[in-house]
Parts: sequence; C-alpha cells; structure tokens
Amino acid sequence: MESNMAGWERKQTDTDKGIVIPDDWPGYPLDLFTYPEHYSEDLDCVYIPHGVIIDRTERLARNIMEDLGDHDIVVLCVLKGGFQFCADLVDCIKVLCRNSNKTLPMRVDFIRLKSYLNDQSTPDLHIVGADNLSVLNGKNVLIVEAIVDTGKTMKTLLDHVEAFKPKMIKVAGLLVKRVPSGTGYLPDYVGFEISNRFVVGYALDYNEYFRDLNHICVISDGGKLKYKI
Ligand code: HPA
Ligand code: MG
Repeated sequence: MESNMAGWERKQTDTDKGIVIPDDWPGYPLDLFTYPEHYSEDLDCVYIPHGVIIDRTERLARNIMEDLGDHDIVVLCVLKGGFQFCADLVDCIKVLCRNSNKTLPMRVDFIRLKSYLNDQSTPDLHIVGADNLSVLNGKNVLIVEAIVDTGKTMKTLLDHVEAFKPKMIKVAGLLVKRVPSGTGYLPDYVGFEISNRFVVGYALDYNEYFRDLNHICVISDGGKLKYKI
C-alpha cells in the first residue's frame, strides 16, 4: 500500500463501497447536537452528523481526483437534493488541487429530477429542469447525487446523459439505501450505505422541508404528519 509523507493510507481499495451503517444503528440523540429549533418535534435522531459527512466527502474527493484528475470534467449536480453534497464535494476537490499544485478545470451543470411525494417514490420520474446538455458530448462527466435507493432514477438519468455521448460517466452518490426493490445499482463513489428509513437534512427534503438542516436525520412520525401534503 502506498503512503504519502504523513503516512496516511493513500490507495483507494476496490472494496470501498461506502461506510455501511447497519440496520440496528439507532443514531445519536438529538440533544447531543445543535439543529434548528423549528424541527425539535420533527426528528427521531441524528443519523449522520454533518462533520462525518464532510470527512467522508473529503475522502471521496480524493478518490475522484486519483481516478479523474488528469482530464477536465463536467460535474452534473442532480437537484435539488444534491446541491449541498455537490457544493462540498467540489470545494474538497478544489482544496486538493490547490494543495497538490494540480489543476482540474471543472464545469458545473445542473439537472433537476422529481419522483417523490411525501416519503413515497412515484412511478413517473420527471426531468423538470435541464440546461442544454450537449456540452457533455465527448467529456468526462461526474454525476453527483445525494441518494440512490431503487436505482431506477439513476438508470433513467444515465440513459438520458448517455444520449449526449460523453466520453466517460462516473457517479458519486452520498447515500445508497438498502431497499428490497433495489436494482443493485451502485454508484462509482459511495459515501454511506444506509438502512431503509426516510432521512432528511443536508439538502434532502420531505416535501421541501428540512433542506436547512446540516445533519442527516431520521424524520419522526410527527414530522411526516406535520409536513404532509
Ligand atoms: N430522503 C429524502 N429524499 C429521498 C429519500 C430519503 O430518504 N429517498 C429518496 N429520496
Ligand atoms: Mg426530495
């Protein structure tokens, strides 16, 4: 195994499929952290603290740099849930470039998908906002998505992006949810593998609420009721 000067483990292993959070992980009590008071009745626990998300994102950025750092890339941020992860991931990549005297020209584009009402996935997936993606033609594309559950959304998105004939497509997914109906699809870079619970925060929403929460938390039954439409 290679090591850098500080002696930190450097080589990305082929077995990095994300940090696995087991089904019996209870999360942290809310009182141990700070969070917006307006959500005090609406959450069960802090499932992944903000600092852990950032630390993991730093490592994903390094893995991505090691694989893709030689050619310019087009980052395709999947809105709305992916905005925070994408912003932090791009920041981490910029810091790595600065610290290693590398230069990695990055374009950042956005695509918007919608498939969830309340906490249920609806069968009709819409691409509701997209620039002209012909810029992806011949480019190395990094799709950045907050959460992958059944994998169907990602499959639809990959078909859509492939139509623009990029040179290469890689996918970074912060969360992969273990769901019974999963297609088995795994992003190339996975932050955390989580149990089949509805999580909010760090830009993940429940009917547009909770994007203003830094930690990834499990929503309470009361919270689901309060913000149901
Ligand atoms: N939370 C928020 N959005 C989602 C989730 C989730 O658990 N799964 C799919 N989209
Ligand atoms: Mg949503």
